[in-house]
Amino acid sequence: MPEASETRVRTDDGRVRTDGGEAETDTAGADDVALDPWGSSTVSDYRKLFEEFGIEEFDELLDEVPNPHYLMRRGVIFGHRDYRPVADAMRNGDDFAVLSGFMPTGDPHIGHKLVFDEIIWHQQQGGDAYGLIADLEAHSARGLSWGEIDEHARDYLLSLIALGFDAEDGELYRQSDNRELQDLAFELGSKANFSEFEAIYGFGGETSVSHMQSVVTQMADILYPQLENPKPTVIPVGPDQDPHVRLARDLASRMRFFGVTEAYASFELDDAEKELVAACYEHLDPDEFDDHDLRCVHVADYLDDATPETLDELGVVAASDVVASARAKLDEAGMEPLRPRVRFLDRNATEEAFDALVEAIDGEKRVFDEHVDTFELSAEEAEELARQVEIENGGYGFLPPSSIYHRFMTGLTGGKMSSSIPASHISLLDDPQEGYDKVRSATTGGRETADLQRELGGEADKCPVYELYAYLLSGDDDEFAKEVYDECVGGERLCGGCKEQAAELMREFLEDHQEKREEAEELLDSLDIDLDSKRRGPGGEH
Ligand code: TRP
Ligand code: SF4
Repeated sequence: MPEASETRVRTDDGRVRTDGGEAETDTAGADDVALDPWGSSTVSDYRKLFEEFGIEEFDELLDEVPNPHYLMRRGVIFGHRDYRPVADAMRNGDDFAVLSGFMPTGDPHIGHKLVFDEIIWHQQQGGDAYGLIADLEAHSARGLSWGEIDEHARDYLLSLIALGFDAEDGELYRQSDNRELQDLAFELGSKANFSEFEAIYGFGGETSVSHMQSVVTQMADILYPQLENPKPTVIPVGPDQDPHVRLARDLASRMRFFGVTEAYASFELDDAEKELVAACYEHLDPDEFDDHDLRCVHVADYLDDATPETLDELGVVAASDVVASARAKLDEAGMEPLRPRVRFLDRNATEEAFDALVEAIDGEKRVFDEHVDTFELSAEEAEELARQVEIENGGYGFLPPSSIYHRFMTGLTGGKMSSSIPASHISLLDDPQEGYDKVRSATTGGRETADLQRELGGEADKCPVYELYAYLLSGDDDEFAKEVYDECVGGERLCGGCKEQAAELMREFLEDHQEKREEAEELLDSLDIDLDSKRRGPGGEH
C-alpha cells in the first residue's frame, strides 16, 4: 500500500478539504454545530465536532485500517467514535459487523451512496453487513404514509444491492417487520427514560409516543448485529446521527450485568486517583513505615507531605484536589493493606448470574454483597469472563458500538444538499441526461473570467463539482482526483471543460447504476422482505 499521505488530495495547509472549504467561514454560529437527527443537517465547522462533541479524527487511525476506502483516504470520512476495535478485528480476521439505516422519505441520492459504499466496503473486508429501512421512524417522525414508505423502501434496497451489497451474505430488513428487533427495542427502553430523551433530542410533552418508540428502535438497530454474539460493530452515518450513537453506546453498557474496574483496596478510585495510587504502590517501600505491608494509612501519610516535586519523583503529575480526595479515601481505609485487584461490580446481574460469576473465577477472590475482588486475573481476562458469564445467564454482553462519520456533500446549487431541492442533488433514479444537465448547471469554485482563472487558479476547495470528483466520480482512482485538483488550483483547468467531463462521468455512472438496479430486481424479490406492507394509519405533515 502506498503511503496514504502521498495519494491524498491535499490543500495548501496540508489538510484534506472536501467539504467545500466551509471550515473557514466565520459565520459559524453555535446553531451550526448542534447535532440534531431530525433537523437540517449542515455542519459549517467540522473542528467543533471534535472539540465539543468528542468525535475523534479519522486521520489518526487511518494507518491501522487495512486497504482504506477512498472515502477514508480523501478525508470524506473525517471522524469516528471508537473505530479501533473494528480496525483491529479487520486486521486480525476476527468477527465484526457494519450496519446503517435509511429513512425512506424520498429517492435515494448521491449522499446516500456514501453510506451504501461504506456498508459494502466493510462487507467486502469480511464484516457481517446489515442495511435497514427506518420505516417506523419515517412514519412517526416524518409523517410519511405506508404507501409512500413501501415505494421508497424498494428504491433504497435496489440501489444498495446494485452498488454491490451481497444480500445473500448480509441482511436487509425493515424496522416494522422485525420482531426480534422490536423485542430488543423494548428491552433497551427499560434503561432509557423521558428526561433523557428531553435532554438529548429536545423532546417535550408534545412529542408523540411513536416518535419515542422510533428512537428505541434505532437503538435496537445499532445493537442488532450483536444479538447472536457480541462483536465490534461500526455504524457509518452523518454526524447528525451522533446523538443516537452516543445513546446507543450508553445503553449498551447500562445493559451489562457486571462492571469491571481496577482497585487497590475496598474503596473505588476515579482514573486520576488511581494513577496516583498506582505510582505510590509501585514506589513506596513498607519498610519506610516500619511495616511488612504497605497500608492505606501509610500512603495517606505520605500524601500529607507530598509536593509536586516529590510526586514528580514517583513519575506522576496530580492536581491538588486529586491528591486530597485520594488521601481522604486512603485515610478512611486505615490499616487495610494496599493491594491491586480486579473488581467485578454487580450492576444488573440476577442472583444466579452473580453466583455463576463467583463460581467461574479462578484463584484468590473475595466475595461481597455487590462486588467480587479477584487477585489473579488481568482486567482483560476479567472483562472476557464477565461477558461470558452474562451471555450464559440470560444477558446480551454488548460491546459499545463504534461509528464513522462522513462529511455532508455541498449542494450542486451551493448551500446544502437537500432531498427537498431537486436541483441541489442528484438522485440515483434521475434520468442520466438529467444528471448530466444538473452537473452542467452546477455552481463552481471558478473565477469570474477565464483569464483570472488561468492567473489565480480555481477554488477547488469551494467547488461542488470538485466534490463530485472526490466523493464519487473518481472512484478508487486517487491519481485522477489529484490531477483534477492540481489542474484546477494551478489554473490549467477551466470550469466549462471540467463540468463537461464531470457531467459525462455522471451520465455514465447513472446509466450503469440504473442498469444494475434493474438486474437487482429479481434478487430483491427473492429475498424475504415484505415491500407491500399491510399496515394502516394516517400519514400527515410533521
Ligand atoms: N435515523 C437515521 C436517519 O435519520 C436512520 C436510522 C435508523 C439509522 N436506524 C439506524 C441509521 C441505525 C444508522 C443506524 O436517517
Ligand atoms: Fe470546480 Fe472544475 Fe472549475 Fe475547478 S475547474 S473550480 S474543479 S468546476
